[in-house]
Amino acid sequence: MTTQEMNQAFEQAYGRKAEKIFFAPGRVNLIGEHTDYNGGCVFPCALSFGAWLLIAPNADKVLRFKSLNMPQEYSIQLSAISPQPDRAWCNYALGCIDIITRRHPEAKLQSGYDLLYFGNVPAGAGLSSSAAMEVVTARAFTEEMGWTLADDKKYRTELALIGQACEHEYAGVMCGVMDQFASAQGKKDHAIYLNCDTLEFEHVPVKLDGIKVVITNTHSPHHLDSGAYNDRVRQCHTAVEQISKVKPIKFLAELTPEDWEQVEGAITDPIAKKRARHVVGEVARTAQAVEALKQGKIELFGELMTASHVSLRDDYEVTGKELDTLAEAAWQVEGVLGSRMTGGGFGGCTVSLVRDEAIETFKAFVGKEYEEKTGLKADFYVAEIGDGVMRLE
Ligand code: GLA
Repeated sequence: MTTQEMNQAFEQAYGRKAEKIFFAPGRVNLIGEHTDYNGGCVFPCALSFGAWLLIAPNADKVLRFKSLNMPQEYSIQLSAISPQPDRAWCNYALGCIDIITRRHPEAKLQSGYDLLYFGNVPAGAGLSSSAAMEVVTARAFTEEMGWTLADDKKYRTELALIGQACEHEYAGVMCGVMDQFASAQGKKDHAIYLNCDTLEFEHVPVKLDGIKVVITNTHSPHHLDSGAYNDRVRQCHTAVEQISKVKPIKFLAELTPEDWEQVEGAITDPIAKKRARHVVGEVARTAQAVEALKQGKIELFGELMTASHVSLRDDYEVTGKELDTLAEAAWQVEGVLGSRMTGGGFGGCTVSLVRDEAIETFKAFVGKEYEEKTGLKADFYVAEIGDGVMRLE
C-alpha cells in the first residue's frame, strides 16, 4: 500500500486529511535469542515490513483508533487512558501514550487525535508487529506532546524503552528490549549488536555476497502472552537466585561457559538449569557470530545459527514441531549456511542464510517437507534490512 493510498484511507475513515505519517519497522533476529531479558546481547535487524501511523488532532478530547488490518475501532476519552479489556489492539498504542506522560511529565497531550494504523508485518509471525506499532506510536506522540531529544541516538533508545514498558504494562508480556530497540534503531543493510544490560550498541554491516537472509513463516501463530514466555523469564530468575548462593550475579549473561561449569551444580531446579544453560551458551555464540560476520566468516555464522536453534529446541524448549520441521528441513539443503527460529518461538518464523543459487531448491524442499509433516503451508520472504522509525510526511 502506498502512502497516497493510506492518505485516502484516512480521509475515508475520518472525512478529513491526515496531518502526519510515521513508519516503524518489524525485526528479524539473526542470533541471540532469549538473552535480552537476561542482560545479554542480541543481533537483530529492522525489516522493510512495519507499521504506519497517520494522525490528525481533533477538537473532541478523544483518541480514535482505527486500523486497516483490524475491524475493531476504539474511542478513548483523554481522561480515561488505561488498559482496555479483551486484548484490545489499541492497548499497544494507548500504553505508549500513557507511558510517555509518566516517564516525561513535561509531555502534554494538548488535544484528542484521530489515528489510522496500517501494518504489513505478517501477524503472529514473531517479526514484532506489536513492537512496530508501539515504536511508531511512541515516535508520533513524543513529537505531538512536545517531548523529544536533540540527540537522535538517545531519543530512539527512549522510544524503545517506552514501547517495552507498554508491552509490560498494557500487554502483560515481560519482554526484553530487543524488538522495540531494533524497530527504533534499525539501519539499512546493518544488524544491531546490542548489549541489553547497558543499551550500548553497534551497527554491523550485513554484507552477504551471493547469500540472502530468508525468513520462513510457519503460519502457526506464536502466542507470547500465553504465559510460556513469562514462564521462561521466571525460570531464569530462579536460576539467578540459585547461582547467586555460590556466585552473586544479577543476570545469567554475566556467566561465561567456563563460569558455567563452576556454578551449574548450584541450580537444583532441573528446568531452570536447562534454561540457564541455553542463555550462557547463546550469549557466547552471539559474540562469536558477530565476530565471524565482521571477519566475513559466513559459514561459521551459519553454524552458530544452527547451534542456536538446537539449544532453543533442547534446553529452552521454545521451538515446537512447526519450527523444528522448518529448521531441520533447511539444514538438509545444500547451500543453506544455517537456519534457526527467530523471536519468542512457539510458532512464528525461522531465519536462514541461503546461497542465491540454492533459494529455489530451499523453498521447494522445505515447503514440501513442511506441508507433509504438518499439513500447513509455509511462506518465504527474502528479508530486506531497512531503517528504524521515521516520520514520512
Ligand atoms: C520476544 C520478546 C523479545 C525477546 C525475544 C526472544 O520477541 O519480545 O524481547 O525476548 O522474544 O529473544
